[in-house]
Amino acid sequence: MSQPQPRLDPHAAHRRAGQLLASGRRVVLGLAGPPGVGKSTFAGQLVDALRADGHEVVLVPMDGFHIAHAALTERGLETVKGAPRTFDVAGYVALLGRLRDSPEETVWAPRFDRGLEDAIAASIPVEPSVRLVVTEGNYLLLQQGAWSRVRPLLDECWYLHVDDAVRQSRLVSRHRHHGRSEAEARRWALGNDESNAGIVVATRGAADAVVDLGGAAPTHAAPTDVAAGERESRCRPSGDG
Ligand SMILES: Nc1ncnc2c1ncn2[C@@H]1O[C@H](COP(=O)(O)OP(=O)(O)OP(=O)(O)O)[C@@H](O)[C@H]1O
Ligand SMILES: [Mg+2]
Repeated sequence: MSQPQPRLDPHAAHRRAGQLLASGRRVVLGLAGPPGVGKSTFAGQLVDALRADGHEVVLVPMDGFHIAHAALTERGLETVKGAPRTFDVAGYVALLGRLRDSPEETVWAPRFDRGLEDAIAASIPVEPSVRLVVTEGNYLLLQQGAWSRVRPLLDECWYLHVDDAVRQSRLVSRHRHHGRSEAEARRWALGNDESNAGIVVATRGAADAVVDLGGAAPTHAAPTDVAAGERESRCRPSGDG
């Protein structure tokens, strides 16, 4: 019989990440979850809290592996940007492998720039001193094609959860914030974003733990400090990484 999936609040998640760090070697922690659940926001808060504890931690987002917008347009895929096939998954797998297997090297990871709507190569240095790499994105638990090579490269992978109504209303607000009308915002959030959400929700059972983001942030700072998530998500097209 399989073990029940632990449920963590953000504070328990912070403690569990601290325990992962106790191994002494470099550890890679994945944070998966559907579009708009708060992956980027929570990952940023978790990394900040662990750094405040004195740990060397870096955040390497999956969305640095978006295929370039121009290349998606050439292939007629720009309307489904954010779907599993719109990422360079083999590149992501290769980077995770280097992060695990070559801790003595500085490894440069790409980041996604919301203003450009494209990734920028070699933006995030992962120095040899880094003990925990946190990586976050939609499809870390997906068992489809090359995506199935991601999970074995993660020491643990947690699934982030908030109620769908909260998640969808945050997505609508975010689209509104980026200049869409209410009708357009709802169409994106309940269309493209939701079809990607369906793919992600189906992967929840493969997670090592479920983090319930309905509560407080993993820090003693203001619990609704979501500025990082807002900055990160500015000018995005629709439900990506
Ligand atoms: N705890 C929170 N309280 C209120 N708003 C939040 C919270 N966490 C995230 N948000 C807001 O919800 C939206 C989605 O958050 P975020 O960008 O972190 O999600 P995500 O899972 O990374 O999304 P995507 O899959 O599209 O990258 C953002 O506008 C963010 O500011
Ligand atoms: Mg994000």
